[in-house]
Amino acid sequence: MKILLCGSEGQLGHELAGPLASFAMLAAPPERAFDITDASVVAATLAAERPDVVVNASAYTDVDGAERDPALAERVNRDAVRSLGLACRERAIGLVHVSTDFVFDGEARRPYVEADPCRPINAYGRSKREGELALVETGAPAIVLRTAWVYSLRRKSFVSAILKAAREREELKIVADQVGSPTFCRDLAVAIALLLRGLGERAPQALADAAGIYHLAGGGEPASRIELARAALELDPHKEAQRVKTLVPIETSALPAPAARPLRTPLDSSACWARFGVRLPDWRDALRRALAPSVV
Ligand SMILES: NC(=O)c1ccc[n+]([C@@H]2O[C@H](COP(=O)([O-])OP(=O)(O)OC[C@H]3O[C@@H](n4cnc5c(N)ncnc54)[C@H](OP(=O)(O)O)[C@@H]3O)[C@@H](O)[C@H]2O)c1
Repeated sequence: MKILLCGSEGQLGHELAGPLASFAMLAAPPERAFDITDASVVAATLAAERPDVVVNASAYTDVDGAERDPALAERVNRDAVRSLGLACRERAIGLVHVSTDFVFDGEARRPYVEADPCRPINAYGRSKREGELALVETGAPAIVLRTAWVYSLRRKSFVSAILKAAREREELKIVADQVGSPTFCRDLAVAIALLLRGLGERAPQALADAAGIYHLAGGGEPASRIELARAALELDPHKEAQRVKTLVPIETSALPAPAARPLRTPLDSSACWARFGVRLPDWRDALRRALAPSVV
C-alpha cells in the first residue's frame, strides 16, 4: 500500500510517519512543499505519488486564532478538505481525515456518539464541522476520525505545559470544569496505522464501504483538565524537579480567551472498535507510558 501523509510536521503527523512507514510505502512531504489549500499542488502531488490512501493530519488548529481569523480556518479546515475529497474521489484514493470533539457544544451528560447533533460554539469547531460535512458530500471513499485532547511530550501540549509550569511555579490555576477524553498522540497514530494495515490492499474500497464519521479518543473514564494535570504530576518521572505545591481549580469562565470552549466533550469510541477493531487504551495507562522515564 502507498500512503500520502498531509501535515507530516504537526503533532499527529510527526507521530504517524513511523507507524505508517512500518507497513506501507510512505510519502510525507513537508507542509511548505504540500499546502493543502493549493488545489494545483494537491493535484500534482497525487499525480506524482499515486497513493492508495491519503491521511490528512493537517489542519488549522489554533482555537483562539480561528476566532480572530475565521476565514483562514475555513480555508484549511473546510475548503481544502473539500478539494482533497474531490481529488481523492476522482482518483478512487481512500482518505482518512481527522476531526475534533470541538464540533460539539459540550452540554451532553454522557460521552458523545457519532449520531449526536453537532453544535460547535467557536470558529475552529465550526470550520472543522463544515469540513466534515463538505468531505462527506464529495462522496470520497473517506472516513473521518474525530479525536480529542491530543497531547505529546515532543510538542507544546496541555500535558507538556503542565510539567513545565510545575517546575517554574508553586501554585498552578487549572480549569476544573472542562471534561474530555485525553488522547496520547502516539497511541492515536499507532491506532490509525493499525486500522489501515487491517484494511490491507483493498483499503480504498474498504474505506468507501465504511465511509462516515467515527470517534477515536483515549479510553477510560472521562477526565477533567485538573484530573489530567494531577495525574501527570503524579506520574512525572522527575518529581524532584517540581516546585509546585498547590493546584487551584478554576472555572473556564475565569480565563478570558477569544474563543469559547465546550465544557464536556468526552467521546464514545465504541463504533470504531466495532467497525475496525481499533480503540485506544485507558488514558491513565497511556499517560503512564507517555511519561515513562526513557521518554522524558
Ligand atoms: N491537538 C488536539 O488537542 C486535537 C484535538 C482534537 C482534534 N485534533 C485534530 O487532530 C488533527 C491533528 O492535530 P495536531 O494536534 O497534530 O495539530 P498541529 O500540531 O497544529 O498540526 C497541524 C499541521 O497542519 C499543518 N498545516 C496547517 N495549514 C496547512 C496547509 N494549508 N497545508 C498543509 N499543512 C498545513 C500545520 O503546519 P504549520 O504549523 O506550519 O501551520 C501543522 O504542521 C487536526 O485535524 C486537529 O483538528 C487535534
